[in-house]
Amino acid sequence: MTAQLIDGKLIAQQVRAGVAEAVARRVLEGFAKPTLATVLVGDRVDSATYVNAKQKACAELGMGSVSYHLPAEISQEELEKLIKSLNRSKKVHGILVQLPLPSHLNEERVLQLISIEKDVDGFSPINIGRLAQKGREPLFVPCTPFGSIYLLEQAGVKIEGANAVVLGRSNIVGMPAALLLIGKNATVTVCHSRTKDLPGVVRQADILIAAIGKTEMVRGDWIKPGAAVIDVGINSKPDASKKSGYRLVGDVNFDEAKEVAGFITPVPGGVGPMTIAMLMKNTLRAAELQQK
Ligand code: GUN
Repeated sequence: MTAQLIDGKLIAQQVRAGVAEAVARRVLEGFAKPTLATVLVGDRVDSATYVNAKQKACAELGMGSVSYHLPAEISQEELEKLIKSLNRSKKVHGILVQLPLPSHLNEERVLQLISIEKDVDGFSPINIGRLAQKGREPLFVPCTPFGSIYLLEQAGVKIEGANAVVLGRSNIVGMPAALLLIGKNATVTVCHSRTKDLPGVVRQADILIAAIGKTEMVRGDWIKPGAAVIDVGINSKPDASKKSGYRLVGDVNFDEAKEVAGFITPVPGGVGPMTIAMLMKNTLRAAELQQK
């Protein structure tokens, strides 16, 4: 192995420790606990797992959380009513609507409704718009891209002037990651299913963010020697040696890529833990902003 491993679990723990300390200080000063409201619609097992992990993190860091689990058939009107009441609530500082929503619901309208001061996921059009504009700052940066860039910075990877390739253009990861990298003066290429000669484009990358959701799609010979590889993918791969019958792997073939890259994040234990750490950071920030 030539690549240096970027330990997301450790770095996430450090971020969480910093948040826990700031939360304890606020509570001592007499402020209410920063509190996150999570909204889960329907019964997707993966979404329920993510929401539970977010709630557990709140408890571990001394923060508050309130959980709303709504039936899959809920109407747009009912969901919007809940968001409006959470916007008004003095007890809630951050609002997180777990995505994806069931297909009959209008996700854009729901995200647009979340008060910008409580938009700890950073998905409201105002936050994303600010991220996309020069000289403007979003109130909150989407958690997974925020965590990905934080890992690069902690590893000492130079972003300014680097050729960065973002694989995937999702609203949750790819597009905000690309905007963040542009803001940090990288030269950014965003690739997707219709990109021609994907391996050739990826080979130009000093920094690769892989967020395409395809099991081990990026091969070792796609990687530029010495590149920093951030693997956002979480895919399950059949593995008879595991009790569950599967194991988690990323969008990058780790065994091949680690022989070529300069830096690489593992799956699990790379970007995954950072998403929740950054959500906790954003929720603390929301409480601080609302105090002002
Ligand atoms: N679904 C997958 N990732 C995320 C995330 O970061 N936030 C929300 N709200 N939903 C998601």
